[in-house]
Amino acid sequence: MPKAPTHHAKLLAWVEEAVQLCQPAAVHWCDGSEAEYQSLCERMVAAGTFTRLDPVKRPGCYLARSHPSDVARVEDRTYICSRRQEDAGPTNNWTEPEPMRAKLRGLFEGCMAGRTMYVIPFCMGPLDSPIAKIGVEISDSPYVVVNMRIMTRMGQAVLDKLGAAGEFVPCLHSIGAPLKPGQADVPWPCEPDPARKYIVHFPEEPSIWSYGSGYGGNALLGKKCLALRIASNIARKEGWLAEHMLILALTSPEGKTTYLCAAFPSACGKTNLAMMLPTLPGWKLRCLGDDIAWIRLGDDGRLYAMNPETGFFGVAPGTSEQSNPNAMATVSRNTVFTNVVLTPDGDVWWEDMGVPAPARGTDWQGQEWTPGCGRKGAHPNARFTAPAGQCPVIDPAWENPAGVPISAILFGGRRPSTIPLVAEAFGWEHGVFMGAAAGSETTAAALHQAGVLRRDPFAMLPFCGYHIGDYLAHWLALAGRTDRAKLPKVFFVNWFRKSADGKWLWPGYGENSRVLAWICQRVEGAGAAVETPIGRLPAPDALPLEGLNLPADNLRQLLAVDLAGWRSEAEDIAKYHASIGARLPEAMRQELAALEQRLRQAAETVQ
Ligand code: GTP
Ligand code: SPV
Ligand code: MN
Repeated sequence: MPKAPTHHAKLLAWVEEAVQLCQPAAVHWCDGSEAEYQSLCERMVAAGTFTRLDPVKRPGCYLARSHPSDVARVEDRTYICSRRQEDAGPTNNWTEPEPMRAKLRGLFEGCMAGRTMYVIPFCMGPLDSPIAKIGVEISDSPYVVVNMRIMTRMGQAVLDKLGAAGEFVPCLHSIGAPLKPGQADVPWPCEPDPARKYIVHFPEEPSIWSYGSGYGGNALLGKKCLALRIASNIARKEGWLAEHMLILALTSPEGKTTYLCAAFPSACGKTNLAMMLPTLPGWKLRCLGDDIAWIRLGDDGRLYAMNPETGFFGVAPGTSEQSNPNAMATVSRNTVFTNVVLTPDGDVWWEDMGVPAPARGTDWQGQEWTPGCGRKGAHPNARFTAPAGQCPVIDPAWENPAGVPISAILFGGRRPSTIPLVAEAFGWEHGVFMGAAAGSETTAAALHQAGVLRRDPFAMLPFCGYHIGDYLAHWLALAGRTDRAKLPKVFFVNWFRKSADGKWLWPGYGENSRVLAWICQRVEGAGAAVETPIGRLPAPDALPLEGLNLPADNLRQLLAVDLAGWRSEAEDIAKYHASIGARLPEAMRQELAALEQRLRQAAETVQ
């Protein structure tokens, strides 16, 4: 074994234990250097995992194609193994920790045969931040190393910060594809049998074990596993919040800057909103993060949000100069693309990229592809991994360890009917109720049937690492820890409303700046609103729609309160509340009762 670049006894012992268990052919301690990154990319090109893209069109960029069984998060194979089942709650898969550990030890035994074991020290949050959390991922995937270097602060600096006795979260990962002596490797080795994939969290240790997948949140363990599922547990104990939220700054024509966070479920528009180019004249947007926010109460009683990541792992399909020009600029160089189309001239293409498809290309499965062939060229969950610092509108404060003070929190999802374009909560408890009731049609970001409505409280359904009822109580408790007036205002937005004939009623993307502008005005105590049974909606003419040419009937539908629709929504929320059980905070039941009461009153007034 090479000499380890640390004196951390616990880390050394854990790595030695992992070596004994996984039996790798070699061990590589990652230093996080550019040279290391380049050499791993070279090695993956030689192995067929990476294709180097054209150095003029996409300098420093690579394409990877995953195995068809390994294209998204596997929620039904994801576990929270707390000692007691009720601590994982009704939204998580659970088994007793010890039998699961035994099962995992069996799977990991010899699982890295013929491969290099990489030791990846990483830090979520700026290294000098008091709330940064260090993890060490052990992985047999060079693809993981390269992606972790983009997505996190990674390498020797983290070991230096750890010192001889610092705390870290051990994250053991294997693609689950040992090589027998002489056996040829494949471009994307993984465990193809879904029943043998495991993404397991032991929140009380804490530790993470991930087996069988090399894709995204299954394998880049700093992201969903550490920065959300484990961090939500830590945050609960320490009194802060680990959230599936973007962070952005919006500056008005008068020069007033408002920071806000938004929680939308996976593939529901966070990356797009986080770096959107406002169409509304005079307004400027800056991005601080597109997926995860760590939020804490500041000494001044306000909530401060910080992005623990350093990169974007964004959905490629649908990204275009039209929809998200800042993302297009961000992925112009030093980017890893996974599961998109390779064009004959060494560039990438995906559906709705806004440029003509190549006459022929190679699809995400490596097969010859033509635009008319009837198959999608890119997988719907194809992704880019790109450094956040390359985003043209990255906010100068994005690496500020203290974070930025948040004035508004938005919830959203794909709701084709009932939910209006925007509504403001009446107060904190109503806001938490709105967030708890958030739902969306499911998407390709996880392996399940797409397009089915499911409740996704705070967009955290797949990411809350403890009982969801306790999670809601943790949010509610903030009102008792600070002056309510200092808490952010809460809003619900819905860019995905459809007409009876299935067309988008709202153009979305940069035009969402019009809704954000109204939200900023509301934060300032301006911006006209009307009280409705479901919340405060923009008063007629309060949304700045000049230059948009939105048909009047679209606007009417977008801002209508559909009483019948809301009655069935309330019924569905009641069922959902029941599914949470006894740990659902009483305030949630009271908010639902108050909503039902307001809906009844409104119906009587109409009659
Ligand atoms: P994760 O990375 O999975 O957490 O997703 P995300 O929430 O960051 O979603 P993203 O911004 O990548 O958007 C996902 C899909 O929604 C893309 O295909 C977008 O084109 C589409 N989308 C985003 N914003 C809008 C919008 O305002 N209107 C419409 N109609 N579609 C949008
Ligand atoms: C999500 O699914 O919410 C993502 C992608 O951001 S992944 O990193 O795969 O979780
Ligand atoms: Mn996400």
